[in-house]
Amino acid sequence: MTNDLSLARLLGPEGTACAAAMEAGRRWLAGRDPAVLMAGVGREIAEVPAFAPIDKRALPASYGGDQPGPSDDFLVGQGLFYLSEQRRLFLDCTSGHYQMLWGYNHPELEAAAFEAVRAGIVWDNHSNIPQAPLKQLGRRLIQAANDPDEPDPLDKVLLGVCTGTVACAAALKTQIKVFERKTRTRAAPVILSLEGNYHGSDFMLQFMRGLWPLLPRPCEFVNLEPNALDAIEAAFTRYGERIAGFWAEPVMMNREAILVPRATLELARRWCDRVGALLCLDEIQTGFWRPEIFDFRALGVRPDLVVLGKGMAAGFHPLSGVLFRSRHDVLEQYDAISTNGSAALPALVALASMQLIHARAGQVEAAAAGVQSGFHALANEFPELVERAQGRGHLMGLRLKSVEHAKALHRRLLADGIWTRVHAYHEGHRTVLTKLGLLADAQIVDFLLDRIRQALRALSIPNSSTSRQTTNVP
Ligand SMILES: Cc1ncc(COP(=O)(O)O)c(C=O)c1O
Repeated sequence: MTNDLSLARLLGPEGTACAAAMEAGRRWLAGRDPAVLMAGVGREIAEVPAFAPIDKRALPASYGGDQPGPSDDFLVGQGLFYLSEQRRLFLDCTSGHYQMLWGYNHPELEAAAFEAVRAGIVWDNHSNIPQAPLKQLGRRLIQAANDPDEPDPLDKVLLGVCTGTVACAAALKTQIKVFERKTRTRAAPVILSLEGNYHGSDFMLQFMRGLWPLLPRPCEFVNLEPNALDAIEAAFTRYGERIAGFWAEPVMMNREAILVPRATLELARRWCDRVGALLCLDEIQTGFWRPEIFDFRALGVRPDLVVLGKGMAAGFHPLSGVLFRSRHDVLEQYDAISTNGSAALPALVALASMQLIHARAGQVEAAAAGVQSGFHALANEFPELVERAQGRGHLMGLRLKSVEHAKALHRRLLADGIWTRVHAYHEGHRTVLTKLGLLADAQIVDFLLDRIRQALRALSIPNSSTSRQTTNVP
């Protein structure tokens, strides 16, 4: 037994070839100007040696474990670009799974992390003896959430949780605990949420979207259409003080990027105050993707609970959180905790990332405006194919007129090296989604819009085909 911890050895029998391909891919991506990279998107990069990827039969079917043939998964990434195992170059237009705020291995964030480690910041420790970055992140988030003269500030933040699911569960528990303390009846609390919500993958959060129909519900979960003001009003009138909480995501990235109207949030705010319920905004998708950090700051609606995740630590390592007010500080330490919450190094990366957002606010805003107006322009340009553009800023969707066209557009973009997502698996859903990382500038935005334009044009011409190319890009 040797102590060889080299990548080639750790990756097993295929390790030597795999590590060599990674190294070649990393070098190829690192030295190149984005304009050159854009020219190579969709092509096979011959400078990266071909190799046999590690098979993934060990993974469950839901993670591709049963896919036949050699895989074409992620080989190596840099910024907004990545190479697949079959050596194809992609522009990642969804920031991984919506969490890689600055793309892959952003050099400044990486440098900040390495420097912090050298200075004594640990990767992780224990949640009730937090290291300096976590405490500072708490202060920084509170600062971002409030004006200096805010009369009723969100002045506490739970950072002891690892993933968005655990943070959402903590927010839900807070709503229920506050309800338990004030209720005079033994009736189960009611949780109102929006149709098409996604607040995570534990049972309670999945009850909120109607899953596990055979299991008894500990609360009454009621789903409402985001724009149905009358129905929301009727639900508050009907359940009154039995309502423990109202949930919304400002941009519903799990429902075709539709926007929750400001009027809905304002109505929910008024009613929550009247019946003593807590308004929770799940900003796991929207948070950190704008200079104000939180969507609620720009929308002007002040929630009682704000859930943070994904982009907060720029995908460095899972770290999530819940912002709230001191009077709602009702959970005990072990009510809401995960082993890797309160982690010092991700907190440091989150601080560095917030600094970058502040420093690059102009570019971030310009890109957001460019994507948003560009998607609307595409919808106008192709009225026979596209129903409308939806979303806000970097979080945009193109809703096609048919499911088949949505799937075909997604396939075509993929064949062209443009990584997007498609919502076409629920009845009526037919939207191609993007969430570019904040590194995107006007060049990248125009490039993406142009590739979508070309794909839509090709879809308008029946029987046109795409071909794969091999290239030596300088
Ligand atoms: C709006 C929203 N809430 C909660 C979650 C759950 O977060 P996580 O996957 O980190 O558990 C997600 C994840 O996609 C999300 O998009």
